[in-house]
Amino acid sequence: MRFVLIGCGRIATLHVAGYKDRDDAVLWGVYDKKRSAAEAFAKEHSIPKVYDTYEEVLEDKEVTGVEILVPHYLHCEMTVQACRAKKHVSVQKPMAMNLDECDKMIAAAKENGVKLKVYENFVHYPPYQKAKQLLESGEIGEIRGIRYKMNNGGLNSQNTPAAKVRAKMAGVRLTDDLCPTGWEVDTLSWTWRLNETLSGGGPIVFDDGYHKFSMFIDLFGDVEKVSAWIDETSLIGNLCQDSPAVIMWKYKGKKLYGTWDITCSEDMYINGKYYTCDERMEITGSRGIIWVTRCTAEMLGGVAPLVMYRDGKLTEFWDMPHDWQDSFINSTHDFIDSIKADRDPVLTGERGREVLKFALAAMESSARQSEVFLDSYEDKPAPEKKGLLGVLLRKNGR
Ligand SMILES: NC(=O)c1ccc[n+]([C@@H]2O[C@H](COP(=O)([O-])OP(=O)(O)OC[C@H]3O[C@@H](n4cnc5c(N)ncnc54)[C@H](O)[C@@H]3O)[C@@H](O)[C@H]2O)c1
Repeated sequence: MRFVLIGCGRIATLHVAGYKDRDDAVLWGVYDKKRSAAEAFAKEHSIPKVYDTYEEVLEDKEVTGVEILVPHYLHCEMTVQACRAKKHVSVQKPMAMNLDECDKMIAAAKENGVKLKVYENFVHYPPYQKAKQLLESGEIGEIRGIRYKMNNGGLNSQNTPAAKVRAKMAGVRLTDDLCPTGWEVDTLSWTWRLNETLSGGGPIVFDDGYHKFSMFIDLFGDVEKVSAWIDETSLIGNLCQDSPAVIMWKYKGKKLYGTWDITCSEDMYINGKYYTCDERMEITGSRGIIWVTRCTAEMLGGVAPLVMYRDGKLTEFWDMPHDWQDSFINSTHDFIDSIKADRDPVLTGERGREVLKFALAAMESSARQSEVFLDSYEDKPAPEKKGLLGVLLRKNGR
């Protein structure tokens, strides 16, 4: 099976390793509207083919499927086009800008008999998968609640354009113990994200948050209602990120609640190879507690990736891959295997739509300052696309 990456930006680098140890699938080609980005990427990863246009990819009979790794506002259109060309599709999260777009994507895949996978990798993170196994086998008794914590750092990391300036202002000097952390992210990769007409929502709750909403549904099923406070913090002038935030929800038909809080600590040094965003999950049962201590970053690097407290004893689980990249490898394998075995991927279009609805309902709850029942959430039109300047002028009310 031959696959093509569409978009050779920041995240594309983590979509390569999943093909490396396969004898049934190959990363066959790349396409990016910026030809130089596609060429450099193909060279770095020894990928044989660089396409000139998306149409050329879709017309190529050799191509089995595409992985769509472009800004959110393009997900629907490019997915529908690929399905019509009978290509299997993996589309990065968030699935789309609104529910209507999800419906179009689901229908296109069905009508053309191809797979549609929403590429959300956190549900494929090995410590998370092991935690799920422990929960399902009743290790901590009946599940009573879930608590999720997310910290974004910045100081001295390479992942925000202003990080180096902030480090300097705070008087932090690089030493062997405090070397730059996180990966480098091109400023252009942030620009469209901070423009809600292209990204559909804020970079924290809507964009990165899709991973978390996805895990919350994956763990305990359908959500009945959500309440959220989503505040704003200025990054530069009128450009804001959607945090701090606190989100809480109740599962359908169960006395089971979750809370998720997000705090950005722009002067905090967070160890990690990728984005300097650290996550911790705590699941409480009637008999014990399970913690997944990390995912994207490694702030608690000395602590086991999975810890269980039960019957007065703390058990550490180290024996599993626990780099963030491992979740990408597993997610890519899920895409390939779903095509090979003609089965659903873990995150189908239908499930991806539910996850998006959860995110949109949380944003609606915060805007309305009241709880929102997911079954009565009403979809909104996708925003009219505007350049960054248009967005800034609009925010200024001019
Ligand atoms: N799973 C994760 O943890 C994770 C992390 C980061 C990004 N993502 C998702 O991956 C997608 C891409 O994010 P990114 O950070 O790599 O963005 P990016 O801005 O770094 O890269 C996007 C690439 O798409 C290209 N592009 C834009 N329009 C195009 C078009 N019409 N045709 C072809 N190429 C086009 C750009 O030139 C750029 O190279 C987003 O949907 C994002 O939410 C997922």
